[in-house]
Amino acid sequence: MNNKTIITGIQPSGVITLGNYVGAIKQMVKLQENNNSYIFVADMHAITVPQDPKVLHNNIRNLLALYIACGIDPEKNIIFLQSENEYHANVSWLLECNTPYGELSRMTQFKDKSSKNKNFYAGLFTYPVLMAADILIYDVDYVPVGIDQKQHVELARNIAQNFNKKYGETFKIPDVYITKSGTKIMDLVDPTKKMSKSSDNPKSVIRILDSKEEITKKIMSATTDSECVVKYDMENKPGISNLINIVVSLTDLTIKEVEDMFEGKNYGEFKKYVASVVVEELTKIQEKYNELINSNELDIILDRGAKITKEIARNKYNLMKQNIGLYK
Ligand code: AMP
Ligand code: TRP
Repeated sequence: MNNKTIITGIQPSGVITLGNYVGAIKQMVKLQENNNSYIFVADMHAITVPQDPKVLHNNIRNLLALYIACGIDPEKNIIFLQSENEYHANVSWLLECNTPYGELSRMTQFKDKSSKNKNFYAGLFTYPVLMAADILIYDVDYVPVGIDQKQHVELARNIAQNFNKKYGETFKIPDVYITKSGTKIMDLVDPTKKMSKSSDNPKSVIRILDSKEEITKKIMSATTDSECVVKYDMENKPGISNLINIVVSLTDLTIKEVEDMFEGKNYGEFKKYVASVVVEELTKIQEKYNELINSNELDIILDRGAKITKEIARNKYNLMKQNIGLYK
């Protein structure tokens, strides 16, 4: 992908995981070289579920520092905080009034989250519309996300197409850009489900700021199978396949090369290698993170991001108001 405008957001809802790094951040690091990228902390999406204010506040800054420590270059990307640009919520409202209730009701993430906790808030339901606003404001070509967010980007496309049809050309139609297959990192204890920031079991998840010892312990105790063959087979060997995926996404190796390296070797040896790959990658990130977290560099980056994105968002908001028939 070259010379495209792209946007992606990530929620500050806990220390990010290896899954977020591989599925979202690493992808953006590659794309920043030849594209015009917007990257933001989706703090308003985070509050669609209850948050402790102090914890949330820290998570936002931590995430920002981590983005940059992971290689997101503030010179090459426009980095901003969603809540610092009030036009996102304004645009979202105008879109909400143009989003069929039936279509929103079909969102699988909503169905999943609302069935787990019946006391959910309205924001959880309208969350995909805010996400559509994030995307449509910037007239982007592509939205790089993991497969779990595909349906939300498709909804944003539908909302944009319907809006354009009803009110005249207002939005560019964005495309989803699914990060390369095989990069969905799975839970270490139950490798049939996605590694998730919100997991209750700390052994399931590698977090970017985990210590060397924690990382090694978690990988050494990851669920595998009784076959003792390092072979990629997502259906029958989800644990081993997940560990292979982790290696492939952090190195230049292919699946076949990893399988060949460990032919005839036991799972213990393979896991030790996986742990060393992860430790090496995350140690570099942690060193940069420690330098950044208490520096004012982060505030300077945010001020710049807010200034640039507010200008763009105000223009889009005014165009929408005008097309809808509101006063601008
Ligand atoms: P979330 O943690 O659900 O807010 O997701 C933030 C971004 O990271 C999205 O683009 C997700 O698709 C991606 N992501 C989250 N977990 C994983 C995972 N286990 N494997 C790959 N990508 C992931
Ligand atoms: N909903 C996305 C997630 O949880 C985060 C997000 C919010 C996003 N707005 C976005 C991603 C706009 C891409 C574009 O992963």
